[in-house]
Amino acid sequence: SEIYLNGLEGRLPPFTTDPTALEDAARGRLEPGPFGYVAGAAGSGSTARANREAFDRWRIVPRMLRDATVRDLRTTVLGTGMPAPVLLAPVGVQSVVHPDGELATARAAASLGVPAVLSTASSHTLEDVAEASGDGPRWFQLYWPDDDEVCAGILERARATGHTTLVVTLDTWTLGWRPHDLDLSYLPFIRGVGTAIPFSDPAFRAQLARPPEEDPVSAVLRWVQMFTGTDRSWERLPFLRERWDGPIVLKGVLHPDDARRAAAAGMDGVVVSNHGGRQVDGAVAALDVLPEIAAAVGDRIEVLFDSGVRTGSDVLKALALGARAVLVGRPYVYGLALGGEDGVRHVLRGLLADLDLTLGLTGHRSPAELSPEVLRQA
Ligand code: FNR
Repeated sequence: SEIYLNGLEGRLPPFTTDPTALEDAARGRLEPGPFGYVAGAAGSGSTARANREAFDRWRIVPRMLRDATVRDLRTTVLGTGMPAPVLLAPVGVQSVVHPDGELATARAAASLGVPAVLSTASSHTLEDVAEASGDGPRWFQLYWPDDDEVCAGILERARATGHTTLVVTLDTWTLGWRPHDLDLSYLPFIRGVGTAIPFSDPAFRAQLARPPEEDPVSAVLRWVQMFTGTDRSWERLPFLRERWDGPIVLKGVLHPDDARRAAAAGMDGVVVSNHGGRQVDGAVAALDVLPEIAAAVGDRIEVLFDSGVRTGSDVLKALALGARAVLVGRPYVYGLALGGEDGVRHVLRGLLADLDLTLGLTGHRSPAELSPEVLRQA
C-alpha cells in the first residue's frame, strides 16, 4: 500500500517494479563484463531458460471469499525467524556491480529482517559484512576448500561473527562453461576484487609466496586450486558436521537420492538448485525436481529452493510444490547495481509485497496453507 500511496502523491519508485524488466535496466547501467557475470549462464543458457519455463508450466487456481484480508507471511527456517519464506541467495564478488557490494546487501536485507546468505567468495570480509548486518539474521555459504586448516579457520570465523546456519554449495567444485565470462576474459576473481574471506585468512595467507594485496592473481589461483580439489565426498561430510554445531544445508541438490543421502548424513536441509543455470547447461529445471525431492525427504529435513524465482507467483508455486522457503539470486543483484542498498531493498520489498498480494488474492492467509492442490499444470 505504501508503494500505491507514494504513487498517489506523485512519488515514483527509484526504478522499475517489474521484475522481468530488471535485467534490461541493469544492462543499461553496467559494463558488459560485470553485466555478463551476473546475467550469464552456462553454455547455451538452456538451463537458465528451463528454470523460467518450468514456472510457466504451473498455473495457480485462485479461490474466492476465503477471508484472506489479513495475512501472516512469517515463518521459521532451521530456527531462523523471518518475515516471509524468502532469503537472498549467496552471490559472490558483489563489488563487481557496486562498490558497497555485500555490505549494502546485508544492510538492506537486515532492515527487512530477511537473511542474506553470505558467499565465501564475498568481496568484503566476514567481519565487515556481519557488522553491516546489525541484528539481522546471518547465514554463511561455504565453498568447501580441500585444505582442512583453511576450511576450519573460515568456519570458525563464520561462527565467531554470529552466523547460525551453514549452506554448503556442492555444485560448484569447479566453474561451469560460462561463455559470457570467457569471451570477455572477465574473471572477477582475477581482477582482484573478490574473495576477501580466504584472502584474509591467516592459514591461507601462510601458503602464499606474496600477500594477495601484492599478487592477487597467484592468490586467486591458489584459492581456485583449493576449492576445486578432489578431496570432498559424502564420506567427508562429518568433517563439516563436527566443526559446525548449527544447521547445515547442502545447496545444489537435484536428485532425490542425493537428498536422502544428505538426510542420512545428518544434514538439516537441502537447497534444490541448479545454481541459476550457471553450472550444467542442459541440467533439469530446478522446479521440475522439487516435488520428488520434497516427497523423498520433506518430512525429515527442510527443503529450500532456488533458480528462476522472479515474482510473488513464483514463490507461491515453489512453496506449493514443497519448498519451505526460496532463495532469490540475480534480481537483487540487479537492484544492487541500480541503487546500492536502496536498490536491493526496493527489489526485495517489491517481491515480498507481490507475494503478500498473490497469497491473499488466491485465498490464502499464510504460506502454510499452500499445497500442490493450489496449482494446475498448463
Ligand atoms: C551465484 N550463485 C552462487 N551460489 C553460491 O553458492 N555461491 C556463490 O558465490 C554464488 N555466486 C553467484 C554469483 C552470481 C552472479 C549469480 C547470479 C549466482 C548462485 C546463487 O546462489 C543462486 O543459486 C542462483 O542465483 C539462483 O538463481 P536465480 O535466482 O539467479 O535465477
